[in-house]
Amino acid sequence: SRQIKLALIPGDGIGPEVVAEAVKVLDAVTAGSDVQIDKTHFSLGAARFLETGDVLTDADLAAISSHDAILLGAVGGVPGDPRLANANIERGLLLKLRFSLDHYVNLRPSVLFPGVASPLAEPGDVDFLVVREGTEGPYVGNGGVIRQGTPHEIANEVSVNTAYGVERVVRYAFEAARARSRKKLTLVHKTNVLVFSGSLWQRTTNAVAAEYPDVAVDYLHVDAATIFLVTNPSRFDVIVTDNLFGDILTDLAAAISGGIGLAASGNINPDGHFPSMFEPVHGSAPDIAGMQVADPTAAILSVALLLDHLGLADAAARVSAAVTADIAARRGTDAPASRTTSAVGDAIVARLSN
Ligand code: NAD
Ligand code: IPM
Ligand code: MN
Repeated sequence: SRQIKLALIPGDGIGPEVVAEAVKVLDAVTAGSDVQIDKTHFSLGAARFLETGDVLTDADLAAISSHDAILLGAVGGVPGDPRLANANIERGLLLKLRFSLDHYVNLRPSVLFPGVASPLAEPGDVDFLVVREGTEGPYVGNGGVIRQGTPHEIANEVSVNTAYGVERVVRYAFEAARARSRKKLTLVHKTNVLVFSGSLWQRTTNAVAAEYPDVAVDYLHVDAATIFLVTNPSRFDVIVTDNLFGDILTDLAAAISGGIGLAASGNINPDGHFPSMFEPVHGSAPDIAGMQVADPTAAILSVALLLDHLGLADAAARVSAAVTADIAARRGTDAPASRTTSAVGDAIVARLSN
């Protein structure tokens, strides 16, 4: 039998509601198998900060690191809450985990499931994967402010791009493209303006492309990429891009493929030195928290990514199939939610094949 140590970080807002359903599905899909999931619950997020003043202690980080994988709901309070003004939960918790655990690949698949209404009149066949860099770019925190509060304030936010960091994520994207049927990779950047980092990304992509003659490569500026995501999303197979462009593009990608309630992600440490972390793309949604109306599907699809990452491909496929069947049966009736969060979880469990 195989034992998997899973760290659970439900977090804030709808985080605990959607994680409860994801765990329900995880338990059901592994029940009666030789896989045993040992869960450790970590109470982290805005609620914990307000109670104790801690965001993520060294002890928390060490304890989380000793697990095989992490499932996270969402963290963050109501934007603008003055009590959280200096907490910086997103940087101090979410980004600290991604950076400390070297999650250099942020995997964000976009699939328009059969039966899902897209806001696009003719979406076509939407099935692409965004490989978002996870540890560099403008997210690093290399910046500072001078003369704050004066008319001469200077606020710098430096985008950090290393040859090592760009090459490893570009290589991962080529491998991902090679494993897919269309074998197409699009580099998205803004090389016409961000000339230094743009050049590094473009040269790295060109160099690695020589090792992957079976993968077709093209390039789009990020502004043009937003046009094609709306007018012709089926042109995309794998997109590789930097941390900030990837953040923005994947909310747009979610919107065109059934909404943020369906978008799953994995923060991957492909080397296996640290646990990878799986989470819905959405946030804590304070506007609907506690109402049992959040769609848990993104969190449940994140469980499928988690199972895949752990080498449990059959279980992952069973979760995906159950979600696909549930979505097909919705026929658009979940917008606005016609079932509770927990009823959606129960329905997906009921659709799991044996
Ligand atoms: P959000 O994703 O929380 O909400 C945006 C909109 O989408 C809201 O109207 C919300 O009700 C809706 N929504 C989100 N998830 C949904 C679901 N599963 N089902 C139905 N509707 C859903 O983004 P925001 O409002 O910008 O951020 C709220 C808080 O979450 C902030 O503190 C932000 O920093 C944080 N955040 C955290 C993460 C994370 O933990 N990974 C990601 C994004 C935002
Ligand atoms: C996401 C979120 C995070 C990001 C924030 C909350 C730090 O928007 O996971 O997409 O920008 O990466
Ligand atoms: Mn985001």
